[in-house]
Amino acid sequence: MKKVLKVVGYVFGGLLLLLAGFCAYVAAVGVPTYDPPTIPEITVEKTPARVARGEVIAQIQCMECHANNQNQVTGKFLNEVPAIFGKLYSKNITQDKEKGIGNWTDGEIMYFLRTGIRRDGSYAPVMPQYPHMADEDLKSVVAWLRSDRFPVQATKEEGPESELSFVSKLLTHTLMKPLPYSPELVSLPDSTDPVALGRYTADAIGDCYSCHSGDLIDQDKIHPEKTKGYYGGGIEMVGDGGKPIVTANLTFDEKTGIAKKYTKEQFIRMVQTGVRPDGTILRRPMSPRPMLSNRELGAIYEYLKTVPKIQNDIAKRNAELELQNTQNQKATAGR
Ligand code: HEC
Ligand code: HEC
Repeated sequence: MKKVLKVVGYVFGGLLLLLAGFCAYVAAVGVPTYDPPTIPEITVEKTPARVARGEVIAQIQCMECHANNQNQVTGKFLNEVPAIFGKLYSKNITQDKEKGIGNWTDGEIMYFLRTGIRRDGSYAPVMPQYPHMADEDLKSVVAWLRSDRFPVQATKEEGPESELSFVSKLLTHTLMKPLPYSPELVSLPDSTDPVALGRYTADAIGDCYSCHSGDLIDQDKIHPEKTKGYYGGGIEMVGDGGKPIVTANLTFDEKTGIAKKYTKEQFIRMVQTGVRPDGTILRRPMSPRPMLSNRELGAIYEYLKTVPKIQNDIAKRNAELELQNTQNQKATAGR
């Protein structure tokens, strides 16, 4: 019996040592670097139509994280990210050759947006990847980045480097990985099929599921629909004034989802304006999406109808958090 215990002890001790060694390694190495990739040679033709479409996508995606108060994409502090992930800053992606991405080739930008890997093999874990954005739309983003539009004009302004917490570093050795580059063409959805258009607009363009699912980190970027709690919401984020806020359940669950809450027309208006039919405001980090058309948002509504229903009572969670928050504030004030 004693011998067994001893063996168990050794095994356990050995595992702990291994774990400690792994943690020390992660702390020392930080975010892993990968082999410098072979970048495809792509030159994007910058047509006015592409610049216009790229601007729409940029307003939904890139501006949210990269634009400063003057509306230039100089990079900024990402204040909605919970503190346990560290202090995260995005980067200058203006046309400046030194501080921005003026020196990147079109191919390098497209490769990076698909995979998260820069030409030197370094990996940007916080930056979302866009594996399902159609080639045509990705080219539009590049055309916009290279255009004469105000937000992308060269500026030298630069934010501090991100300080990733140990948790974030650990995640880059486990759950957060670059995505493989596929040379295959990703085509636009059939725009006459509302469900296909809705799925594409929600998952590939709006990245709606990345906030409206069960976990901020543990997501299946290759098969979004396999992500835990897909469109069931429930991720806790940092809202205005540092207040906790939970993302909404967008499935058609009759009790806790949007099925009985909003008609299609109400849904479209609400997402475009950021105001619910009852006059309450959608709080940050949910921002209005006036750039999405009635057709695109109506299509998202049709697609959400087809997504497996999830029962998840967000109103209850929000109320609990609100209570906790006031209690914490009282406790701090009483000290
Ligand atoms: C959720 C926030 C977020 C969104 C949305 C986002 N980015 Fe980023 N981006 C970041 C962060 C954070 C970094 C810095 C990553 C790092 O240093 O590890 C970054 C880095 C980059 C870089 C690398 C810059 C450099 O000098 O290394 C490029 C290029 C870029 N983003 C382009 C874009 C474009 C184009 C879009 C829109 C299609 C976009 N980003 C959307 C957060 C975001
Ligand atoms: C950065 C994270 C984030 C992204 C991306 C995001 N949302 Fe949200 N969304 C939220 C949060 C947080 C709330 C809760 C707002 C509140 O309670 O005031 C919310 C609320 C909503 C609501 C209100 C639901 C209700 O029952 O009141 C709708 C509708 C919605 N989002 C649709 C979308 C759509 C469509 C997209 C993609 C185009 C999207 N969201 C992208 C974070 C996000």
